[in-house]
Amino acid sequence: MILTINDITPEQFLKDYWQKKPLVIRQGFKNFKDLLSPEEMAGLATEEQIESRRVFKENGEWQAEFGPFESYDHLGEKDWTFIVQALNNWVPEADELIKCFDFIPRWRLDDVMVSYGTPGGGVGPHIDLYDVFICQGSGSRRWRVGDIGDHKEFAAHPALLHVEEFEPIIDIELKTGDILYIPPGFPHDGVSLTNSMSFSVGYRTASARDMHSVLADYLIDNELGSQQIADPDRSVSTTSGQINNQDLALIKQQLLDTLDDQLISDLAGRYLTNSKCDLDLPSENLGFQAEDVVAMLKEQPLIKLGGLRCMYLEKTVSQGIFYINGEQEVLSTDLADVIPVLCDQQSLTAQQLESWLQQPQFVQQLTTWVNAGYWYFEQD
Ligand code: SIN
Ligand code: CO
Repeated sequence: MILTINDITPEQFLKDYWQKKPLVIRQGFKNFKDLLSPEEMAGLATEEQIESRRVFKENGEWQAEFGPFESYDHLGEKDWTFIVQALNNWVPEADELIKCFDFIPRWRLDDVMVSYGTPGGGVGPHIDLYDVFICQGSGSRRWRVGDIGDHKEFAAHPALLHVEEFEPIIDIELKTGDILYIPPGFPHDGVSLTNSMSFSVGYRTASARDMHSVLADYLIDNELGSQQIADPDRSVSTTSGQINNQDLALIKQQLLDTLDDQLISDLAGRYLTNSKCDLDLPSENLGFQAEDVVAMLKEQPLIKLGGLRCMYLEKTVSQGIFYINGEQEVLSTDLADVIPVLCDQQSLTAQQLESWLQQPQFVQQLTTWVNAGYWYFEQD
């Protein structure tokens, strides 16, 4: 799959549109093929651990239902939409789509969501917190996007936060292969014109509140930050009810002291590699021996499990540190160069790993990951 952003480069896109304004990308994908069929979607939605929902109107009232779903009979042939979240965790083809957007790093990625709409179907006008590239598959949808501004939101249903009517700055029909990029805060509303499929590559970030809450857990789990405020240089107080500026500075400093670079990078690595949705992991160790892994790797690539978040920090990678699925992994420093190969690539070949496959410590580690299901062979 090759992405073409009208006649601009990814650099220009980031400079002029990313997080700034919406963009209609006509024929961003030539010959775009749906990543799965509606029947396959329905199959996924029968599974308990796969997040799915349906949105429709009943007697003029918005309704939302959450999976797993067995039957679609009561929905009829129009005015409903069916969504499966984290498609990339279950359908390897979804990763081919994500790769097209890898000029944005994976830590910013949330997931690929697929939406199947019947004519008239949509989830209603709303605002998202995050950036999204809505890639139109089969069929067509009308999208209206309003300007960023002071839009009033309301619950059209306990599970549907909608936004009041807005003046569109974009009002278009998206056809197969077209893409609509929407940054956070822009109200939008998509309505299927025919039976249609769309694939949304969604991004996420973190709020300071999220990070502070993770920090609090981190300090508790690692028994850090237990030093008490110390004030051996105290001077006489004449205002015993006051917390003076000097004391406030001490309190602030105590909080700031917990935030050293090493802690922030470890916290970020763990937090940003945490998967929000279930992964397709085996329930037990797969039992591969190191020799099997090396032999099979000569025949076929190892594929990174869809949705597995595997990242390193520029700051700590030379120490052999990286993160998989919310956990820190530490390799010996002479293996540090393999980390970008593991994290930047979505599959591993014997050729890419050649110089490290000679090293028993690496092969052992790789085998552990294969046995945990983090990388897999398509045929075993
Ligand atoms: C949809 O694809 O049906 C809704 C996507 C969105 O607007 O966020
Ligand atoms: Co949206």
